Amino acid sequence: MIVVVAALKGGVGKTTTSVYLAAVAWSSRRPVTLIDADAQASAAEWIEQADAEPLDAVTVVEAPTTRLLTRALGRIAPDEVGIVDSPPGNERMLEAAMSVADCVVIPTRVGGVETARAEAVFDLVPRKTPAGLVICSARTYTRDYQDAMAGWREAQVPVWGSIPERVTIAAGPDAYLAPDGLDSYRSVWRRALRSVREA
Ligand SMILES: Nc1ncnc2c1ncn2[C@@H]1O[C@H](COP(=O)(O)OP(=O)(O)OP(=O)(O)O)[C@@H](O)[C@H]1O
Ligand SMILES: [Mg+2]
Repeated sequence: MIVVVAALKGGVGKTTTSVYLAAVAWSSRRPVTLIDADAQASAAEWIEQADAEPLDAVTVVEAPTTRLLTRALGRIAPDEVGIVDSPPGNERMLEAAMSVADCVVIPTRVGGVETARAEAVFDLVPRKTPAGLVICSARTYTRDYQDAMAGWREAQVPVWGSIPERVTIAAGPDAYLAPDGLDSYRSVWRRALRSVREA
């Protein structure tokens, strides 16, 4: 199963989402490979630095070009989970990954411009491939968040989950995975699995 974490915008939460989803996917005891398609290799570094399960059980493949990405995707076995962390602003790589994806997870944030950027990513997803939004670093208690959620609902855009804004999640590789981050991403993972089953 191939899950592509896709956004055109930088700094929305692609790497954080990819790493947490890899951790959560591993709990289902399927082998997990994280394909890091971003030349910055921040997901690869994060996972390589981990010295405890689940992250140290995740295989990392660095694939910073479309050619390497396509090759890495071709090597994901049917019983395996492959999660792609993508670079910002690279439509070509996103399209290459999405063409073989079982589902697409689109991290975004609350805010006017963000909405248009996330919609642009939905437009790149192949028609039959399920896709859903993850609202990253969400201030769920704010009016802005409530309004944004209402807007997505009205536009009938699937929201697979919201991840609360937490310093423990922002700590990235410098701290261990935050329990509430894992809980939130676990529910995103379940939604993604369900969407694949129903596709
Ligand atoms: N739930 C959260 N709470 C607080 N901070 C968060 C949360 N999720 C992500 N962040 C922070 O937001 C910043 C951007 O996240 P991340 O690096 O995952 O985004 P990205 O889309 O991969 O960025 P880039 O485009 O640079 O690759 C990081 O500093 C990260 O720690
Ligand atoms: Mg990143």
